[in-house]
Amino acid sequence: MARFLVISYVTVLLVVTIYGQHSDSSYSIHGDTTSNISDIESRQSGPDLEFRYHDHDEMTRYLRSVSASYPALTALYSIGKSVEGRDLWVMVVSASPYEHMIGKPDVKYVANIHGNEAVGRELLLHLIQYLVTSYETDSYIKWLLDNTRIHLMPSMNPDGFAISKEGQCNTIHGRHNARRYDLNRNFPDFFKANSKQPQPETEAVKEWISKIQFVLSGSLHGGALVASYPFDNTPSARICRSSVSCSVFQSYAHSPSISPDDDVFRHLSLVYSNNHAKMSRGVSCKSNTPSFKNGITNGAAWYPLTGGMQDYNYLWHGCMEITLEISCCKYPPAHELPKYWMDNKQSLIKYLAETHRGAHGFVMDENGNPVERASVKVKGRDVTYHTTKYGEFWRILLPGTYRLDVSAEGYLPQEVEFIVIDSHPTLLNVTLHSAKRIDTGPYYRPVVSRPPPAPAPGFLTSISNSFQNIFSNFFG
Ligand SMILES: *[C@@H]1O[C@H](CO)[C@@H](O)[C@H](O)[C@H]1NC(C)=O
Ligand SMILES: *[C@@H]1O[C@H](CO)[C@@H](O)[C@H](O)[C@H]1NC(C)=O
Ligand SMILES: [Zn+2]
Repeated sequence: MARFLVISYVTVLLVVTIYGQHSDSSYSIHGDTTSNISDIESRQSGPDLEFRYHDHDEMTRYLRSVSASYPALTALYSIGKSVEGRDLWVMVVSASPYEHMIGKPDVKYVANIHGNEAVGRELLLHLIQYLVTSYETDSYIKWLLDNTRIHLMPSMNPDGFAISKEGQCNTIHGRHNARRYDLNRNFPDFFKANSKQPQPETEAVKEWISKIQFVLSGSLHGGALVASYPFDNTPSARICRSSVSCSVFQSYAHSPSISPDDDVFRHLSLVYSNNHAKMSRGVSCKSNTPSFKNGITNGAAWYPLTGGMQDYNYLWHGCMEITLEISCCKYPPAHELPKYWMDNKQSLIKYLAETHRGAHGFVMDENGNPVERASVKVKGRDVTYHTTKYGEFWRILLPGTYRLDVSAEGYLPQEVEFIVIDSHPTLLNVTLHSAKRIDTGPYYRPVVSRPPPAPAPGFLTSISNSFQNIFSNFFG
């Protein structure tokens, strides 16, 4: 007992130190400072988790007790509060829960953004339970947690969940937040102006993903069985706000809205659907709903929407997010939860491991110091990623030969050719040389104009240009 108390005391000190030194996060981590003796004694085996729905207080208790039982593998933090004041909990599961591991990726799942789509919420609790209890015995899980920081948000819309009803498969009751906003229509949009008033839940998520460089992400929904990938929005098509209105008023034959990383997004979606017990069969949920070949679809090809979270993650922050529709029934009876867990368990794990595919590395200056916010762009893929304050970057790519353009203010741009293979990620360190030249004249003007645009479809070039504008409006 005394040993546990000492550990928790040290942990708290550690957290204070870490978050005191690094200003990139203001989230306070919930250690087990509040637990009392009876809590501590129950830690030997860790908390149990039943297959039933957990309301906000029960979920909070479960998360707190996991963080108390597994202080070396988990950390619990809240990124903010819902309209009605419920915490937006995130649990980190990793061999380094309190601190980003330099050179190793951070990934996330967000569930229950639509409050009445409840399966993902419970599955993330079971994923937490599975990860912490498998670390010592399962070498794959140990490898994953040793090399990845996994952030799990079981509910982005706890207020919507609070009024949702078990057994309601197709209603929209509980979908929205307490002010009746659809949170998956509430993000800034690249293609169309989004005039919706930003909601506290969305603002908290935006701040969160601006502080932590997430490499890969999944957003868990219900009401269909499909992995849907960017873009959700499109420069051209009419917008219908839900799959229901799309099916009633429009045909399903929308044009896909193809992103520069279409091959990667299709691959990521297939990893989820192929590891799922039945998603890849592409059977439609009901006779009047669409079927999806191999269980995947381009978001806009299904139905376009403005203000979605996945396009925002990708275009604003270089985080590859897809939308996972994991149950035909939005809020199925609790006794079906074990089946949903078995259907999705393998997918949930294998998908996150895809963050270790492609190329990653560091951008440094001549003295080996990290260059922060250097722009990293794969030729032919008109999306700019940025380095972290440690100079890190990650680029999930399929096997092939690529060229990387790396540039930063005050440095000469660099172009690097590299290959990606299937079996392990390519480590790529790039040294940028100062634009200041020692031999000739006082200054060497860096080449700011880009090479002529690659022969890409016209709209990608325009995306890139207006994206630069949006970007400079936000950050410049
Ligand atoms: C200690 O925890 C137990 C069980 O969780 C609870 O019933 C009790 O009220 C707690 N005591 C204090 C002093 O917090
Ligand atoms: C790349 O840079 C990182 C950070 O400075 C360093 O730890 C790593 O050893 C380097 N790797 C190679 C292959 O140069
Ligand atoms: Zn949804």
